[in-house]
Amino acid sequence: MSIISSDISKAIALLSTEELVAIPTETVYGLAGNIFSEKAIKSIFQTKKRPFFNPLIVHIPSVDLLPTIVSYIPEKAERLADAFWPGPLTLVLPKQSTIPDIITAGKDTVAVRIPNHPTTLELLNQLDFPLAAPSANPFGSISPTTAEHVNDYFKDDIKMVLDGGPCQRGIESTIIGFEGDKPIIYRLGSTSIEAIETIVGPINIKNKTEIAPDAPGMLDRHYAPSTLTVLADDISEAIQKYSDKRIGVLAFSKPSDHDAVAFQIVLSESTDLQEAASKLYDALHQLDKQDLDIIIAERFPDIELGKSINDRLQRATVRA
Ligand code: TXA
Ligand code: MG
Repeated sequence: MSIISSDISKAIALLSTEELVAIPTETVYGLAGNIFSEKAIKSIFQTKKRPFFNPLIVHIPSVDLLPTIVSYIPEKAERLADAFWPGPLTLVLPKQSTIPDIITAGKDTVAVRIPNHPTTLELLNQLDFPLAAPSANPFGSISPTTAEHVNDYFKDDIKMVLDGGPCQRGIESTIIGFEGDKPIIYRLGSTSIEAIETIVGPINIKNKTEIAPDAPGMLDRHYAPSTLTVLADDISEAIQKYSDKRIGVLAFSKPSDHDAVAFQIVLSESTDLQEAASKLYDALHQLDKQDLDIIIAERFPDIELGKSINDRLQRATVRA
């Protein structure tokens, strides 16, 4: 029997008895549990094989609940929440003492967002606790953007995927933290830097990789297919270089006609970056199933969502 279902009352029953449910959001599917259930939260880490030093995002249905999660809201955080919630933006702020340490990996800050998906907003509105939800994939692998992706990963481990269709945005939320009252981007994502800067002015990116980084989504190899994947500035040059191999191509807008290309996906013929972002992870999932020797991914224009796509491709690949 499939674990995929669109029955919200079943999801409520499971979450209320400390079980996990995978939930749809506009970015990617999340593996959700009650933030106040130690059993559920431990089971999130175990199911994902995620290290405990990597904290979770808290999902709430309304900005009215924000003061129950965080103890201080800088003015620029308020403006960002006004501009982008519900939506793909996560704010990292000083936590309330009621937020369990296991959620924040012992940090004194907590990550929080209001997802923009009707099914999950309805679910959150009916629950009397917020949901912790990391992306519903094993640690380090490609995030899921359909209920089927989650089913492929976790059908033996969880009881339900709440089906909300394919994710409209397709890349994780942008994460913003604060140094004092100054916002800093910790993770590039579905809300573009350009859009953020129209609200708060010029903003720095803290693009670090360390053992316990500020946002471990920034770890070097992450979002990775199991097939060797390379990132290329020039697709046809890369195809020439690997022409003795069974090649898969992930292209932005134009197909390749080289004989060595066994399988290819063009993300947006009309060069629409949002369309490309929404199809990116499904394309990587599909390419990874084709028994290829190598996947050649094309570098995107370095603007708006192209920056976030390049960030994910860099973490999924080695340089061609
Ligand atoms: O779009 C999204 O954000 C999705 C959906 C399901 O909401 N969730 C998601 O969660 O991408 P996850 O766990 O895969 O990534 C959360 C990131 C991690 O890199 C984590 O390190 C960072 O958020 N994070 C969480 N709490 C933090 C904190 N207190 N300080 C800094 N980074 C934090
Ligand atoms: Mg993740």
